[in-house]
Amino acid sequence: MSKSNVSMKVNGKAVSAEVESRVLLIHYLRENLGVTGPHIGCETTHCGACTVDLDGKSVKSCTIFAVQAEGAEVLTIEGMAAADGKLHVLQEAFREMHGLQCGYCTPGMIVRAHRLLQENPAPTDAEIRMGISGNLCRCTGYQNIVKAIQYAAAKINGVEYKEAAE
Ligand code: FES
Ligand code: FES
Repeated sequence: MSKSNVSMKVNGKAVSAEVESRVLLIHYLRENLGVTGPHIGCETTHCGACTVDLDGKSVKSCTIFAVQAEGAEVLTIEGMAAADGKLHVLQEAFREMHGLQCGYCTPGMIVRAHRLLQENPAPTDAEIRMGISGNLCRCTGYQNIVKAIQYAAAKINGVEYKEAAE
């Protein structure tokens, strides 16, 4: 099968390769680049485990071909911590608020939450649930994921996090 050259930035680093046009972005990231934070759960656009940020939008990377990301800026969970290793506020929040169990959904969930907070810096509980509705979690029941995103939003906005009464 013929190959095309595809160039993009992944977590700030320019990468370029000859790729068959049938290769999905998730496979390019994981198998060509060794960027294995985005997971494969379904490969049918349902679970969100493969979510990456592509040019400022949350994208399920099993849903597009690598060649469609030509020239794009891609952010994965690997690009969220600071260069000195300091966790991103959302990573800290998921740890503090126990927003994960097995962790399989977590890279996609955090990358999606990052975009959600860019779009809506102070989301309500319902807005968070709607915002992450494309990302499935089989373990947590979502409650602590919602709390983690609220915690991160509070920190970003410089306000004290107050847990809502259940
Ligand atoms: S692996 Fe892409 S949505 Fe499930
Ligand atoms: S923590 Fe296990 S799938 Fe979400």
